[in-house]
Amino acid sequence: MGRLSEKVAIVAGAGSIAEGWSNGKATAVLFAREGARVFAVDRNISAANETRDIIRSEGGECTAHQCDVSVATEVEAMVDACLTVYGRIDVLFNNVGMQVVGGPLDVKEEDWDKLMTVNVKSMYLTCRAVIPHMLRLGGGSIINNASTAGIRFTYANVAYSASKGAVKQLSQNIGVQYAARGIRCNCVMPGYIATPRITDRLKRSNPADYERKIDARRKAVPSGQLGSAWDVAYGVLYLASDESKFVNATELVIDGGQTASTTGKVWED
Ligand SMILES: NC(=O)c1ccc[n+]([C@@H]2O[C@H](COP(=O)([O-])OP(=O)(O)OC[C@H]3O[C@@H](n4cnc5c(N)ncnc54)[C@H](O)[C@@H]3O)[C@@H](O)[C@H]2O)c1
Repeated sequence: MGRLSEKVAIVAGAGSIAEGWSNGKATAVLFAREGARVFAVDRNISAANETRDIIRSEGGECTAHQCDVSVATEVEAMVDACLTVYGRIDVLFNNVGMQVVGGPLDVKEEDWDKLMTVNVKSMYLTCRAVIPHMLRLGGGSIINNASTAGIRFTYANVAYSASKGAVKQLSQNIGVQYAARGIRCNCVMPGYIATPRITDRLKRSNPADYERKIDARRKAVPSGQLGSAWDVAYGVLYLASDESKFVNATELVIDGGQTASTTGKVWED
């Protein structure tokens, strides 16, 4: 308890696309359990409200705010709103990301552009809006949600993979640039995490094949288990807290050893 006490944390993408625990929702709740005042941001206000209500029901402090983080004016307004409510920003968790499955012959140009805007430009926009306030306070911690797809072939996933590689480098670049002024910027790289976004997509795309696909994913992880949103949340909590004060401009892989393993390959969505 208290690992984030006195801190104000913006969680962008704090809701869940479907029922259950997404990475952003679990992280927002964990942040609050550790004493942070959480500004829960989501394009879908009902999803942000749900996270807020969970936090408040546990006695935590949270404000929900509607914002599409891929739109600059909305991002500026969101940061102003956070400052109005809480007066400071110590932590920014950029969790928003979308996926378009397929290779260069499958992905439509407009989908490529949209994905890059949502997955990469949004993080530039939030960092651009938040960094001046962190500088004013003497520092802060930014954590961006990338993916192991940003460093490895997972399956034909060219736009998502390219965007997550970009998130890794965006994080490194910002982390080094602002290190001497107290701002750290890292990314997390989750592997196979059983969030509703993934399980729902696999169920929808081919319900009859769902169990086989989940099983293939499990077998690709050396432990034989998929990760949960809480596994991601605990990694983000560490990077948000002062315990990681000497960890900067790097990535934390949260994948049960899958990236390091040469045995498990799925190579399909
Ligand atoms: N689940 C996995 O296996 C996995 C693995 C690696 C990386 N990730 C990354 O984790 C992140 C979250 O994934 P999840 O599965 O928990 O997601 P999710 O889709 O359940 O939750 C994301 C939330 O972001 C919100 N959102 C989407 N676009 C937005 C926008 N433009 N502005 C504001 N809010 C927006 C959604 O409404 C939703 O509430 C993503 O960046 C994803 O790439 C997930």
